[in-house]
Amino acid sequence: MLRRLHPDQPASFAFTPANQAWAELQIAKYPPGRQASAIIPLLWRAQEQEGWLTRAAIEHVATQLDMPFIRALEVATFYFMFQLQPVGSVAHLQICGTLSCMLCGSEDLMAVCRQKIADQPHALSDDGKLSWEEVECLGACTNAPMAQIGKDYYEDLTAEGLADLIDRLRAGEVPVAGPQNGRFSSEPLGGATVLQDTPGAAEPLNASMALADTIKDTIKRIDGTEVPLRHPRGETIE
Ligand code: FES
Repeated sequence: MLRRLHPDQPASFAFTPANQAWAELQIAKYPPGRQASAIIPLLWRAQEQEGWLTRAAIEHVATQLDMPFIRALEVATFYFMFQLQPVGSVAHLQICGTLSCMLCGSEDLMAVCRQKIADQPHALSDDGKLSWEEVECLGACTNAPMAQIGKDYYEDLTAEGLADLIDRLRAGEVPVAGPQNGRFSSEPLGGATVLQDTPGAAEPLNASMALADTIKDTIKRIDGTEVPLRHPRGETIE
């Protein structure tokens, strides 16, 4: 797939003071003369800040790392995780279309995206809030079919469930991530069958989901907003 910079570009880019401080910490991890090694984290941070990776952001990062713009552009256009066009202001949905998810219904999920977001991948919905694309395996095949929305995985999806998630995202909700069929992680549907006697093993907690919720780093970075830590089943954890 040909990946080009979007024709409509903002004139400039600058990291926020907090992101600039973070960027300098990343650069300091590498020996003098090797600061270009920080290219991926800095591009990623720029994308998180703006929602997508603009030409100005790539140039800014290249300058900060003292590397030619073309080298930074090569990285940005090589990796599909970098969005080279505007994405939905609320969320960008990445629907896995690889084998396990395809066998379990990912084509139905993409049909929902076409109907409720936009007919074509990477296009913005009419209200500008959402966008979607098909991606390759995201490594959660046991919970197929699944989608990455923002930073989180929403797994064990159905067409009806995804349609509901989209409605809730549009309404400003941040639906609880993880399996959507009652599982806590990738245990059998009927519950864990091994390690039953291991201390803590019976505790039904999806730790990575809970951590993401704790650090308020889910659909988007939510700065300064208190979000209660929720159990993957939706209960608030005290
Ligand atoms: S095939 Fe979809 S997550 Fe692996």
